Amino acid sequence: MKIDIISVVPDLLQGPFAHSIMKRAIDKGLLEINLVNLRDHTTYARAQVDDYQFGGGAGMVMMIEPLVNAIESLQKTTVYDEVIFLTPDGDTFNQSMANQFSMKNNLLLICGHYKGIDQRVRDHFITREVSIGDYVLSGGELAAAVLVDAIGRLIPGVLNDETSALTDSFQDNLLAPPVYTRPEKFRDWQVPTILMSGNHAKIDQWRMEQSLQRTKERRPDLLEDDEA
Ligand code: ADE
Repeated sequence: MKIDIISVVPDLLQGPFAHSIMKRAIDKGLLEINLVNLRDHTTYARAQVDDYQFGGGAGMVMMIEPLVNAIESLQKTTVYDEVIFLTPDGDTFNQSMANQFSMKNNLLLICGHYKGIDQRVRDHFITREVSIGDYVLSGGELAAAVLVDAIGRLIPGVLNDETSALTDSFQDNLLAPPVYTRPEKFRDWQVPTILMSGNHAKIDQWRMEQSLQRTKERRPDLLEDDEA
């Protein structure tokens, strides 16, 4: 999968993909990340990419021209499955979206800044608008990093243990059960004995019950909502 990311501060995105699972995905050739500096696509003086909003009001708006130049220059060599704008007023990102995006070949992510981007870009180029939660970040870059991480780890072959993504929280609309490792006893705190029993059918059943109980307590909405 290839993910192109348009940003005014591409350096912000150097770190998140240079370590751990994302780095391994890139090294294995399963994921390609291409950072595009929006300022390389402006024809305005001093690499300007934003301007005052028509109608007045505080805050700058990212101009249409540099964004369209960047998008159309990328579209010359890539057909995108989705052109995604990261914005707090988009659809809230969830595991189901991550699953869907992980099956695509080419994604283009656009990071907003300031008051947002000229609405005409949204009207004519964007296919999905995605928020990572009900709070406002100073730019879309951290949101883009969240999407890439959640999507990238689902690409087949990225995780060592192919089944481990299947037992994540939110797969099947359930939170993950508690997990334990050595030592079996620390101070007075004993690992649930069922996990030491070697009876895998019983262990699976216990994990399912724990998942259900956790989901009921913490996120009952997941049990009501088939779509989540
Ligand atoms: N840009 C600013 N805030 C954001 C959010 N919550 N999600 C996605 N992009 C954003």
